[in-house]
Amino acid sequence: MTRKTTHWIVGPGALGRLIALRLGDHAAITLIGRRPLPLVQTLITPEKAFLTRRVEVARIDAPPSPPPEVVHLTTKAYAAEAAYATLATRLPDGTPLVLWQNGFDCQPRLTARHQGPVLCASTTEGAHVQDETRVIHAGHGHTFLGCLDGRHGELAERLAVTLSAAGLPTEAVDDIRVRLWRKLAVNAVINPLVAHFTIHNGELRDPPFRRMVERLIAEVAAILAAEGIAPPEGEGLAGWRSLIWQVIEATATNRASMLQDVQAGRLTEHEAILTPLLDAASRHRLPAPCLDGHLDALRHRAAALAQPPTAC
Ligand code: PAF
Repeated sequence: MTRKTTHWIVGPGALGRLIALRLGDHAAITLIGRRPLPLVQTLITPEKAFLTRRVEVARIDAPPSPPPEVVHLTTKAYAAEAAYATLATRLPDGTPLVLWQNGFDCQPRLTARHQGPVLCASTTEGAHVQDETRVIHAGHGHTFLGCLDGRHGELAERLAVTLSAAGLPTEAVDDIRVRLWRKLAVNAVINPLVAHFTIHNGELRDPPFRRMVERLIAEVAAILAAEGIAPPEGEGLAGWRSLIWQVIEATATNRASMLQDVQAGRLTEHEAILTPLLDAASRHRLPAPCLDGHLDALRHRAAALAQPPTAC
């Protein structure tokens, strides 16, 4: 019998648990978080099947030994570097690290900091947590995997085979930076609007929101053109319009991740999604008033969340 590789999955939110439960038959998994989770976890598949597994769990300040062969960092973008800092001293040099964060913020810093191969993943898998023991895999997606500087192609291929065999179709790519920016572009247009107006993605097609979507697409398209990032199909503004309206159509009934975060009273990933665009806008001296307004509003909300409640 071939020995299973050991994977640590750090960040037991929806994505972390989805990967853990899917990978469970193909690798030895430990799910690592700030607090211990129940050992028995269930994944409800898009086909409504129940996949129940016993998983190894551990606390991030007391990870198990021996060390893993691969670490998947699946925390929210804003928590990634703190989680990495807690673990880093326990990882032998050379341990491969896979970053599953949205946006384009912590990835270059962690790639520079980690003493070993770092791959970034960009995924359209949709999952949300139902409770402490159940996670819902809402829709099948596709994952791209690659290193920001184009190295470690063989590792990316190997992991892509393992993830695909586990039911998470994954492709190793040599342009992950472009893939991360494309997802960021989609998220930057859809997420702040639906979170602000508390609407499903499909409502963005309606008159009052349509114009707001178009204005955001125009800002994003100009910034990405200046950064040399092309849309997957078509060119320039037309290509970005076609991609973003397609995603809105395909996810019309979705409650986007940022809306879910707002409704659950959690911090949102606005810094990882909007700040890289606004930094690029200022580097290229491009105006981005709509993106700027959304970042401002989301920063105000984050500051209010951080305040202790006042007695009245
Ligand atoms: O963040 C999300 O929810 C998704 O990336 C997207 C594409 C906006 C669909 O809801």
